[in-house]
This record gives sequence, structure tokens and C-alpha cells, in this order.
Amino acid sequence: MKIAVYPGTFDPVTNGHIDIILRASKIFDKILVLVAIHPDKKTLFSVEERVKMLKESLKKFKNIEIDYWDGILVDYIKKTNATAIVRGMRAISDFEYEFQMALMNRNLFPEIEIIFLFPDEKYTYLSSSIVKELAMFGKDVSNFVPDIVNKKLKEKFRRKNEKS
Ligand code: COA
Repeated sequence: MKIAVYPGTFDPVTNGHIDIILRASKIFDKILVLVAIHPDKKTLFSVEERVKMLKESLKKFKNIEIDYWDGILVDYIKKTNATAIVRGMRAISDFEYEFQMALMNRNLFPEIEIIFLFPDEKYTYLSSSIVKELAMFGKDVSNFVPDIVNKKLKEKFRRKNEKS
């Protein structure tokens, strides 16, 4: 069974991430979508919320599972017997950071392969931050995120605006 891990912060998951996950799910028997926890990265959504949104968005797909991890990625990979890490490459600007991470992960665990997939061109300019910024200013982001994320963003910013 060929297993790949697709790690990310997913704060929140966007249609660009979903595009990559679905492409990867056609290549591997199982995809583990991994919500990574950075102790010092401030996120809008809690880990539980990020996992829940991913689960809801991908519930139709039997070979895709969602998990979370607060350690080093390669330790998770070893635990799950995955053989590859999947990452999306949106533009040249992603390359340097991805290259550095790929080489470090391979240094830490030489058996692992890192696979880069390109999203559909309509998602190349998408990022979680841009989506959050648009939603914060009340703009419609329904074309960029799954329905559940759109709903949660509206709730989150409604609550934040009510507080201030
Ligand atoms: N579509 C839309 N957006 C995408 C995307 C796609 N296909 N691919 C990446 N992005 C965006 C994300 O939304 C995010 O946007 P933001 O910065 O506006 O939030 C940005 O690109 C990068 O996000 P992501 O892909 O989630 O990567 P990350 O930098 O948040 O996460 C980890 C990197 C989690 C994979 C990495 O830090 C890690 O492995 N952490 C575990 C600890 C570890 O092992 N560290 C050593 C690594 S060598």
C-alpha cells in the first residue's frame, strides 16, 4: 500500500489544497492530510477546527484521512509507514522554501521521497492568508474555499466584529 502525507497548516484549507489532495489521491493508495501544529504560529482556527473542516470537505473520499501532529514531520512519516511527502507548487516563489524543506526532510529521513504537484492554474494565486483577509473585510470567498470553510469564516469574523 503506497501512502503519502500532505502536510500543511491549513488555516483554513482552500480549494487549492483540495485540488492537490485529489490529484495525489489518484497516484497513491492512501493520502494522510496532516495538520501541522506550530507552537509559535498564530492561527485563526484551532487545530480541532482545522481538522474538522478538512474532514467535512473530504468526507466523500475513502482513501483520504485527516490527522494532526505537533512534532517533526519525518517522525510522523516513520510512524505511519508513508513513503512520500506531497507538496503543492504554485509558483516559482514557492520553490526556494520548498527546496530547503525537501532537502532537510530527506536529510532527516533519506528513505522518503518528496513529490511536488501543480494545482490547477486558477488556484495559483490562492493562499489561506488572502482568503482570510478577504473574508475579514466581508468579501465573498465561496469560489476559493469549501462550503464548510466559507460558513466557518463568516461565523468567525461575525463573532470577532461583534466583540470589537
Ligand atoms: N493552494 C492554496 N494555497 C496553498 C497551496 C495550494 N495548493 N499550497 C500552499 N498554499 C499556501 C497556504 O495556504 C499557506 O498560505 P498562508 O501562508 O497564507 O497561510 C502557504 O501556502 C504555505 O502553507 P502550507 O503549505 O500550509 O505550508 P506551511 O508553511 O504552513 O507548512 C509544514 C509547512 C507544516 C509542512 C512544515 O512547517 C512542517 O513540516 N512542519 C512540521 C515540523 C517540521 O518537521 N519542521 C521541519 C521541516 S524541514
